[in-house]
Amino acid sequence: MNKVMLGAVITGLVLFTTNLVIADDDKYEKNERGKGFFSKYFGKKLDVAPVKNALYKEECGSCHFAYQPGLLPARSWKKMMGDLENHFEENAELDKEIQIKLTNYLVENAADHANYKRSIRIMKSLGKNEAPLRITETPYFIRKHDEIPKRMVQDNPKLGSFSKCAACHVNAEKGSYEEDDIRIPGIGRWDDD
Ligand code: HEC
Ligand code: HEC
Repeated sequence: MNKVMLGAVITGLVLFTTNLVIADDDKYEKNERGKGFFSKYFGKKLDVAPVKNALYKEECGSCHFAYQPGLLPARSWKKMMGDLENHFEENAELDKEIQIKLTNYLVENAADHANYKRSIRIMKSLGKNEAPLRITETPYFIRKHDEIPKRMVQDNPKLGSFSKCAACHVNAEKGSYEEDDIRIPGIGRWDDD
């Protein structure tokens, strides 16, 4: 092998390995829609689109996890945003202008407007006019969580309710709900079998 060829091979190897490292570091970001070589073969497929709206994170992530818009249909978000004064026994009222901005954000990215696996499945589990206010009350959610015993959730002093998605789904904020990314507080890994 001559020097030029050897140089090319080494450059190729360096590029390939650095690419792998970057892909690992950044795997959630890069694979939003599961396109491209790395996301196809090395990356994690996202379950829902992550929240990138800073205003939403600030206003709707202060009391609880900032639930991704892709977890409920637009009609649910509209209903919720129209009655923030009575938000699960709390007053979550916002300035009119902010309320309109966030409603638009939620509707545009709602489950019925999203092309992500879990959004599609949540929509399929709902009747045409059903507009639940809770993600945890959608048939899809219930089906996915019905094997988890009460002692690990409601009766778990370190948890208390299913509404705390990110307490168990450690990469929920990134939009990943896959099984490898689950640790139940005080219990540990979830093992299906
Ligand atoms: C003042 C505190 C507060 C703010 C601000 C707030 N919420 Fe909530 N939210 C609650 C409480 C309390 C619950 C009920 C949680 C429970 O049952 O554990 C809740 C529940 C929810 C649920 C249902 C979760 C489930 O069980 O499936 C959704 C969805 C939700 N909120 C969305 C929002 C959105 C969108 C915003 C911003 C417009 C927002 N929340 C702002 C307090 C708040
Ligand atoms: C007690 C911890 C816990 C909480 C809290 C929790 N989950 Fe889960 N979730 C699990 C476990 C465990 C599974 C896997 C169930 C199985 O495979 O049998 C799961 C499965 C899922 C799945 C299906 C993933 C797959 O690969 O099939 C989705 C989507 C999901 N959860 C979303 C949510 C959302 C959204 C919230 C909050 C509203 C939430 N979860 C709250 C423990 C939790």
